[in-house]
Amino acid sequence: MKKITAEIPDQFKVTPIEQRTYLIDGKLHNWNGETSDVFSSIHTENDGERTPTRLGSIPTLGESEAIAAVDAAHKAYDRGQGLWPTMKVADRIKCMETFVTKMKEKRELIVKLLMWEICKNYPDSQKEFDRTVEYILDTIEDYKNMDRESAKFYKEGGIHAHIRRGPLGVVLCLGPYNYPLNETFCLLIPALIMGNTAVFKPAKHGVLLITPLLEAFQESFPAGVVNILFGRGRAVATPIMKTGKVDVLALIGHSSSANSLQALHPKQNRLRLVLGLEAKNPAIILPDADLDLAVAECIAGTLSFNGQRCTALKVIYVHENIAETFNRKYAEAVDALKFGLPWEDDVKLTPLPEPSKPDYIQQLIDDAKEKGAKIINAKGGERSENFIWPAVLFPVTKEMEVYKEEQFGPVVPVLTFKHIDEPLDDMAESNYGQQVSLFGKDVKALAPLIDTLVNLVCRVNLNSSCQRGPDVYPFTGRKDSAVSTLSVHDALRSFSIRTFVASKDNAYNNAILNELLDTKKSNFVSTDYLL
Ligand code: G3H
Repeated sequence: MKKITAEIPDQFKVTPIEQRTYLIDGKLHNWNGETSDVFSSIHTENDGERTPTRLGSIPTLGESEAIAAVDAAHKAYDRGQGLWPTMKVADRIKCMETFVTKMKEKRELIVKLLMWEICKNYPDSQKEFDRTVEYILDTIEDYKNMDRESAKFYKEGGIHAHIRRGPLGVVLCLGPYNYPLNETFCLLIPALIMGNTAVFKPAKHGVLLITPLLEAFQESFPAGVVNILFGRGRAVATPIMKTGKVDVLALIGHSSSANSLQALHPKQNRLRLVLGLEAKNPAIILPDADLDLAVAECIAGTLSFNGQRCTALKVIYVHENIAETFNRKYAEAVDALKFGLPWEDDVKLTPLPEPSKPDYIQQLIDDAKEKGAKIINAKGGERSENFIWPAVLFPVTKEMEVYKEEQFGPVVPVLTFKHIDEPLDDMAESNYGQQVSLFGKDVKALAPLIDTLVNLVCRVNLNSSCQRGPDVYPFTGRKDSAVSTLSVHDALRSFSIRTFVASKDNAYNNAILNELLDTKKSNFVSTDYLL
């Protein structure tokens, strides 16, 4: 196999992965059909020329494999009587623990692939892996808690009730490229532990990093519980949705994809949605804000991972009295960021994994300039083979595309406001409602603002940038930004439904309940619990 050579430190070199298997019904099937090459936007020297680095290839699966995968998940669920949905909580947890142990063995390779495939810097790639492992362990603990709390009977109005959360069925799980491991597993893991079965297709960028885990999935879970496909989203997800066998669409991505996929389901009320979608989180900087703090938080908020986060700050509203100072400090701080390859020390900006992204960002800049904005940082808009330096655009108006679109990349629109109603009106009109960052100190101004903002978005970050974590906190949004709530605990709820056994309180029924408990023949009717 050809090795990636060039000027890469040995520690970070990877050997191309030619993935030829996919997982359906507990078997790793061999693929001899068409394949798609996977490239990194990081250029290396090949035959004397600098070109995008080829990282390997994946099977281009189509309709018949997609149908086979959803059929396998459907069979494993077996209308709720499959081995997995009826399994004892302790046994499902054992499977998950086996998986996480095997997953940890692949850390080094997965972290390297995160750097190559999506160009995430080394510390953040390590963090993505470790945070995911922690998420799985926290999910197991939370599930045990939930189980402990369910190990009892209620009696109300002469009726005994034994209430638990039960699975929903087959989950189609589609994750994003910016957190191809973490965000995807934050859907898949809670879905599985609650007793659902799943079909999972990795994102287009960040796909090879899933391949080291195929065997771990195969060896840890019963056949058909996890089915993993490769290929184009449309080719694979469309036929799956059309079967009507999907009970939950779990997707982190764009609302337009979520809308078209759910529309394909023949029985839409049977489909539950767990969606993390786009956002346009604003920063609002009040006249009394600590500007150095605001600049530091806005740098992290707008440009961590080049702005490719759904939680990124995507528009800055600064009060007109402080705009000049804020703009100068912020523009200088943007230009002081270090750009480089993901494994270089202190690198904050890295190549953009989507080859078309620099052109798209350029279009947003050109459109804004045509409509009267200026780039206020010296390096803004400088191009290289796979990058465009973050341009800070000022003054931005509502007619500009950069104001309307979720840019998901390195360009920062800045607007001024005179009265606080201006950003509030914009937020109310916006299609999005995930989070906001509010910078200021005077509680007389902050208090009424907080009370309004919490009703426009789902997290108000006070003098702090927007972010998803810590993962125990609710992660959700209003309008086109999300459906359902994800946190360690909320995700378990999102992928399950309350279901219970009820019986009138009389000697006949009570004797049966006692026998059910004593014989331990039911996994549902049980007051045993795990410590
Ligand atoms: O892309 C959206 C992610 O959920 C953001 O997570 O705030 O931890 O970067 P983060």
